[in-house]
Amino acid sequence: MIARFFLVLIVLVFSFNRAALAQTITPEPIAVPPSEFPLPSAELDKQVAANDTAALRQHAWILWSGVTADSTQSFQGQKLPIWETWLSEQEAFAGPALTASVARQARSLRPFAIPRQLSHRTVRSGNLLSMQIAPSAAKSRLLAFVKLSPDSANFVAVSHPTPNPGGPDTNYTKSSDLDRLNAYFNQNATPVANRKIVDFPAAATDLKMVFVPAKADQLSAIPLWAGPQNSSSPSQPTPDTWNQCVAVDPSNSRSGTTQIDCNGKTVTAQIVPLTSFYAIKVDEDTASRINTTLSLSGASSLASGDYQILLAMHITTKEIANWTWQTFWWQNGQNPPGNIPGSVDGMLGPDRIKGPWRSYAMCISDSIVFPPTDPKGNPVVCYNPFLETAQADGINSNCMSCHARATYPGAPYPDTYIPNGWVDMADPTLFSDQAKTDFVWAIQGSAH
Ligand code: HEC
Repeated sequence: MIARFFLVLIVLVFSFNRAALAQTITPEPIAVPPSEFPLPSAELDKQVAANDTAALRQHAWILWSGVTADSTQSFQGQKLPIWETWLSEQEAFAGPALTASVARQARSLRPFAIPRQLSHRTVRSGNLLSMQIAPSAAKSRLLAFVKLSPDSANFVAVSHPTPNPGGPDTNYTKSSDLDRLNAYFNQNATPVANRKIVDFPAAATDLKMVFVPAKADQLSAIPLWAGPQNSSSPSQPTPDTWNQCVAVDPSNSRSGTTQIDCNGKTVTAQIVPLTSFYAIKVDEDTASRINTTLSLSGASSLASGDYQILLAMHITTKEIANWTWQTFWWQNGQNPPGNIPGSVDGMLGPDRIKGPWRSYAMCISDSIVFPPTDPKGNPVVCYNPFLETAQADGINSNCMSCHARATYPGAPYPDTYIPNGWVDMADPTLFSDQAKTDFVWAIQGSAH
């Protein structure tokens, strides 16, 4: 009887595993030798203090090579780069109970959604923020999602005594735990500087990627960043205002130029092959999900076999206390005018950065200001032309100065936010009643 029970159990477990194998993509670590990642914080801190941009950019390209390298797994006939195997924010925050069920279902590898960053706050009633999608976001048809590396996802999957030692066991995916943590800080009159979650581990890496649709049977116009001066809105140059485009050729066979509608105007555009982008061929389900999200219909709607092409990717790593910050965007492998906000300078060779991944330019901002600890220092500016141009004064913004303000609860756009302003982590006007979430907005966005 008992033997038979175990036999049935073994058969069940075996068939369950086989099903999981077919459907489940397993997260793989970043493909960078341990001597290059994570770097000792002292080494990076020294480079930041010396403004050694060349060394910091080299490190950023190493991270790029490591997340874009081929993984060992494929999905729908396409070899997946390492980053595709990582858990999405939705999966990582599903919590331990749900994680088991995630393993049993097909992974939600690509939860395309309107970037929350492009929503803006309009009305505050009580604690409810009503968000309105900025019109430019809809016009640009950008969709985004966030991914967490195995080290980052494993960190949020378990509880941490907060503060450590002595504080309550806190799971950062649970709003009830985070509410209890704020109550603990209040009861213990915890100094504002210490009202924070414990630090993510050094190898924690978070990504945000941005896509736009392209058709399988015709040329698609994709806006090409050529600086704020080549936008009809130079102070807030969102991609729907750019006056230059390329024409993406899904047949990868044409060259030269063509006339194409670029943000409502007919322009001469260079024809570029689809292979110069990282592109995902969408299945019917994904196509209809995207059509619903973007309200696409008729000729502009996506069908099975069309593409989502990658325009931009943010990468952050917890190798230093305030994280490293680098962002990448499609620039046809060239430098934008004046290298603003960055360039392809220092890109590693084709042995380490392959194929389409060589088409993206990059900027870094590993401190808010320079010198890094001088509140009156010069602003360090780095923004992604596809993303941060949507926010007020985004072309003068700094990643860290906004992410330093990530708290639970709170709102993503504090009224007092200054795009490249110094942030005092002990400032009671910013952080009393809050738990600082180690520069990670996903905790505020996804704790439930
Ligand atoms: C004005 C504020 C602001 C600026 C500036 C900003 N971000 Fe973010 N970022 C957000 C918000 C809000 C989210 C969460 C919502 C979302 O994902 O859209 C986010 C999400 C992210 C994530 C996913 C992990 C997380 O924290 O939730 C990464 C990675 C990231 N940003 C990197 C960057 C980089 C790199 C830069 C600079 C090039 C940058 N950000 C500039 C507000 C900002």
